[in-house]
Amino acid sequence: MKKPFSAAITGISHYLPEQRLTNADLEKMVETNDEWIRSRTGIAERRILEDGKGTSYLVNKAMDILLEQKSLDPKDIDLIIVATITPDMIFPATACLVQEYLGAKNAWAFDLSAACCGFLYALVVGAQFVETGAHKKVAVIGADKMSSVVDYTDRETCILFGDGAGAVLLEPAEENMGLHDFILHADGSGKKHLNQLGGGSLHPATHETVDQKLHYIRQQGREVFRFAVPSMAEVSAQILERNGLVGKDIDLFVPHQANKRIIDGTLKRLNLPEERAAINIDRYANTAAGTIPIALSEAVEQGRVKRGDTILLASAGAGYTWGSALLTWAY
Ligand code: UT7
Repeated sequence: MKKPFSAAITGISHYLPEQRLTNADLEKMVETNDEWIRSRTGIAERRILEDGKGTSYLVNKAMDILLEQKSLDPKDIDLIIVATITPDMIFPATACLVQEYLGAKNAWAFDLSAACCGFLYALVVGAQFVETGAHKKVAVIGADKMSSVVDYTDRETCILFGDGAGAVLLEPAEENMGLHDFILHADGSGKKHLNQLGGGSLHPATHETVDQKLHYIRQQGREVFRFAVPSMAEVSAQILERNGLVGKDIDLFVPHQANKRIIDGTLKRLNLPEERAAINIDRYANTAAGTIPIALSEAVEQGRVKRGDTILLASAGAGYTWGSALLTWAY
């Protein structure tokens, strides 16, 4: 179906807190070691946002950079979507806090919860409003303060996550530019393998839920790994195939950064060399909704992306959710 408009990323930025948590630091906190973490995950360190600041702080910082880069008046933003599983509070939405901070008086704003697929989901949702002509400027942000939901006595999860945010601006573009195609999936049967049970309406916070540590992430790593590798590889291969492309047509592959071994498995399936991928898991670990826009933003900053490049995004995470998106870089 032909769309009235194309939606393209016309600006991108990211923000990472300064404080580093290294593998050596974690060795002092739990029974683990640098060699295990590096060889099993590819992670060397992650960034941690200080206490007293929430995810909106990360988003605000990333948006400040984006607005300056684009010389954009916040009043011109039509819609703000924040993809996050670590909102500042249950309600109001973090996107509303951001809307107020920015003074984006003409924007409506909401959060989207799709864990590590959050940015992909939000990008596709935001693009619909541009493609129909309803909106001209949509801000889509992927951000998480994962350190706020990590149990730093659980060695199986605490090594994996970090904090960070990436933001993009979506605007109408020429027909052959921007988002071309997407594939998004969900399978709620994955809920038992990766979740945070406490604090919602099913298990409202009580002394008992806190004693049982239900406010922390729980993951059966091996199960999630078994799901993530084929899912991300399959959904990436599928979107290429249905667009008549092969691996070597991709100028930059931006995968979710959960585990270097998951990324390697996908690269192998696509027959893509590592040089074509944006990989920063060694420095930032898994920032959930933040990983893809942060990695893409860094690649743009490093001059690795030029107008007309074909870019593939892919992710898999809690829900389960997984998906891919194919775009042509527009600026
Ligand atoms: O973005 C959200 C989606 N999440 C993911 O995609 C994560 C997917 N899963 C993974 O990345 C991997 O499963 C992990 C990195 C979480 C774990 O790697 P693994 O190769 O699957 O290890 P494992 O869970 O099979 O554990 C192997 C061994 C176990 O010991 P035994 O039972 O073999 O004696 C663990 O107890 O490693 C042990 N272990 C550790 N050892 C040192 C687990 N965590 C650690 C640790 N340090 N931090």
